[in-house]
Amino acid sequence: MMIPRKQEYGIKRSGGARGGSVTHLRTLNSGSVRRSSAVLPSVLTFLVIVASGGLLLMIEKGMLNSMDTPPPRGNGRRLDATRQKGGSAAVDVELQILQEIRNRTIKTMCSQKNMPHSIWTLTPLQRKTVLQHILVNDEYHFLYCYVPKVACSNWKRVLKVLNGALESVDVSIKMDHRNDLVFLSSLKPEEIRYRLKHYYKFMFVREPMERLLSAFRNKFGEIESYKKKYGVEIVKRYRKGHAKDTSVKGDDVTFAEFVRYLLDEDVERMNEHWMPVYNLCQPCAVSYNFIGSYEHLESDAEFVLQQIGAPPHVHFPERQTWYKPVTTETLHYYLCSLPQKLLRQLLPKYILDFSLFTYPLPNTTTEHCRH
Ligand SMILES: *[C@@H]1O[C@H](CO)[C@@H](O)[C@H](O)[C@H]1NC(C)=O
Ligand SMILES: *[C@@H]1O[C@H](CO)[C@@H](O)[C@H](O)[C@H]1NC(C)=O
Repeated sequence: MMIPRKQEYGIKRSGGARGGSVTHLRTLNSGSVRRSSAVLPSVLTFLVIVASGGLLLMIEKGMLNSMDTPPPRGNGRRLDATRQKGGSAAVDVELQILQEIRNRTIKTMCSQKNMPHSIWTLTPLQRKTVLQHILVNDEYHFLYCYVPKVACSNWKRVLKVLNGALESVDVSIKMDHRNDLVFLSSLKPEEIRYRLKHYYKFMFVREPMERLLSAFRNKFGEIESYKKKYGVEIVKRYRKGHAKDTSVKGDDVTFAEFVRYLLDEDVERMNEHWMPVYNLCQPCAVSYNFIGSYEHLESDAEFVLQQIGAPPHVHFPERQTWYKPVTTETLHYYLCSLPQKLLRQLLPKYILDFSLFTYPLPNTTTEHCRH
C-alpha cells in the first residue's frame, strides 16, 4: 500500500484553511472507508486531505507551537496484525485495513514538527488531563486511556477484575469510576516514564458526533447533577430572555443549545464527556500500541484482552440491557436538525478526532438531510 510522504502533508495554504479542508472533505467523503481493498486509492486521497486539513487547523490555531524538537521515533515496532481469533476472514481483513490506515495516519500526522512526541513536552494542563485518563495495570503491564462514552465503564470493570477488586465483569454493581483503579497521575515521574515506555498501551475511539450525542442524551436526559451544573448555565446563556430567569431547571437543553455552548468552550478545559479524544489521550505524545473502535467493540476488545494476556475467563462485558444505542437514524436526525452553520463551526473543534482516527465528516447537505 502506497503511503503519501511527509512533505505532501505539509502543504501551506493561505487563508481559509478551516473552511477549505471541510469543503474538500465534503466532496471526497466516500462514506465507505473500509469496504474493500478496491477502495484504497480513494481512501488514501481522502486521508491526505483529512490529515492535511487537521494539520492546517492545528497550525492555524497555533495549538502546538511550543513543542520541543522530537527525538527519533522508536524502532523495533512489530506489526501485530495477525489475530488468532476465529470469525469471518473478510471482517478481519476489513478491520486490519482500518487499523493500518489509522496507524499510518497517526504516524504521519504525529511526525510533523510541532506535534508533541512525549507527554513531557505537553503543557502542564494537557499533561494533567492525559495522566488523569490513563489507567494502570501493573500485573498485566498495560495502560488504558479511558474515553467517556466509549465503553469506558466496561473497561473499568475489566480492569477491576484483572486486579482482583471485582469477582467477575458481570457482577451487577453500580460502577464506581475511581475506587480500586490506579491512575497514571498518581505515580511518580520515573514510574510514569517506565510504564509509558514498557507497557502495552491502548485506547478506544468512537465517531465524534455520535459520542457527543451520546453524552448529550445521557447527561441532559438522565443525570440530575449535569442538568443543575451545566443545563441551567446553558439555558441561561443561550435561550433568549432567560439570562436572569431563576426558575430555569436546565432539564430541557436542546441539542442546538448544547452545541452553541460547546462552541464557546475551550477544548482543553471541557468536561471529559465532551472533550475531544485527542485532548484526553494525546495519541501523538503517547504511542499507543492499539487504538480500537466502538464500531468494532467486541472484536477489538477481544484482541486487546489477548494481547495483554488476560486469563481466558475474563471477557469483555455484554452491553447493558438499559443501554440505549445511538442509531444512525438518531444521529442523522439530530445533526440534520441543527442549523447548518452551527455544525460547520462545530466540526473544526473535533477535527483532530475525525482526522487522526479516520472518521469521515458527516454529510449535512440539505439534500442528504431530506431523506
Ligand atoms: C502501528 O503499527 C506498528 C507496527 O508497524 C505497531 O508497533 C503499533 O503498535 C501500531 N500502532 C497502532 C496505534 O496501531
Ligand atoms: C451527501 O448526501 C447526498 C444525498 O444523499 C449525496 O448526493 C451527496 O453526494 C453526499 N455528499 C457527500 C460528500 O457524501
